[in-house]
Amino acid sequence: MRKAGAVAAEVLMAVGEMVEPGVTTDSLDRAAHAEILGRGAYPSPLGYRGFPKSICTSVNEVICHGIPDSRPLAEGDILNIDVTVYLDGVHGDTSSMFFVGDVDDESRRLVQGTCNALYAAIATLRPGTAVSAIGKAVESVAKPLGLGVVREFVGHGVGTDFHGSLQIPHYYDPRNNQRIPAGATFTIEPMLTLGWPGAEVWSDSWTAVTVDRSRAAQFEHTLLLTEDGAEILTLDSEGRSAHDSHDKAGITQGV
Ligand code: MF3
Ligand code: CO
Ligand code: CO
Repeated sequence: MRKAGAVAAEVLMAVGEMVEPGVTTDSLDRAAHAEILGRGAYPSPLGYRGFPKSICTSVNEVICHGIPDSRPLAEGDILNIDVTVYLDGVHGDTSSMFFVGDVDDESRRLVQGTCNALYAAIATLRPGTAVSAIGKAVESVAKPLGLGVVREFVGHGVGTDFHGSLQIPHYYDPRNNQRIPAGATFTIEPMLTLGWPGAEVWSDSWTAVTVDRSRAAQFEHTLLLTEDGAEILTLDSEGRSAHDSHDKAGITQGV
C-alpha cells in the first residue's frame, strides 16, 4: 500500500502542476490516465460502478465525484483532483485542492480550513482511537471558521477493496464508539463548505454539489494506523504530497 500510495501522490502532484486557466478537466484526466499507466498501475475510478473517467475533478460548488469534462478551467476557480490507483492488488486514494489563477479570499479561507481539518484529524489517531474522534477534530477546525461539514460522504476502509466496510464520518457523532485497530488502512477526506453543507447529486448520478451552490473543498489521504499514531501512505518517496503547497504550519502531521 505504500507503493500504491506513493504512485497516487506522484500522479496527483504531476497533474496538479497542469492546472491553469483554459485547461479542461478532460485534459487533466487524460494526463492522469497516462501517468498512472506509465507507473504500472490502473486508475481505480475507471469503470467503478459505471464511473466513466480515471480521476474525479470537482470544481467550485462540486463537493466530490465530479466527472472530467470539456469545460475550460476559469480564473478564480477552485478545483479538487482525486486520484485513486490500483497497484499490486491494493488501492491508494488521495486528493487535493488547486487554485486556478487568482482566487478570492473566502475561497482561500475555505481551502486552508479544509486542509487544516484533515491534518487535525490525522493528529488524533492512535491505536484504538474512536471513529468519532475524527469528526470531532474536523468540526473543531470547521466550526470556528463558520465552515459547513458535509455529512453525505465519508472516509472509508481502503486496501484490496477501493471502498472497504469501515466508514469514517467527518462530523461528530458521539454514539459512534467503534475503535480503529492498529494495522487498519482507511481514508480521511473531509468536505467543507462556505455555506450550508447539504448535498444533491446531478442526474449523471455522480456529481455531488452543494444545494445552495456555495463552494466546497476537500483534502484526502490514505492512512495506516500504527502502534504510535498514523502513517500517511499517500506521500511520494521523499515524503511530499500536493498538500505541501498549502500552509500546514502548526498542524501536526499525526506521527
Ligand atoms: N476517490 C473517491 C474517494 O475518495 C471515490 C471516487 S469513486 C469514483 O472515495 F467512481 F467516482 F471514482
Ligand atoms: Co476516498
Ligand atoms: Co478519493
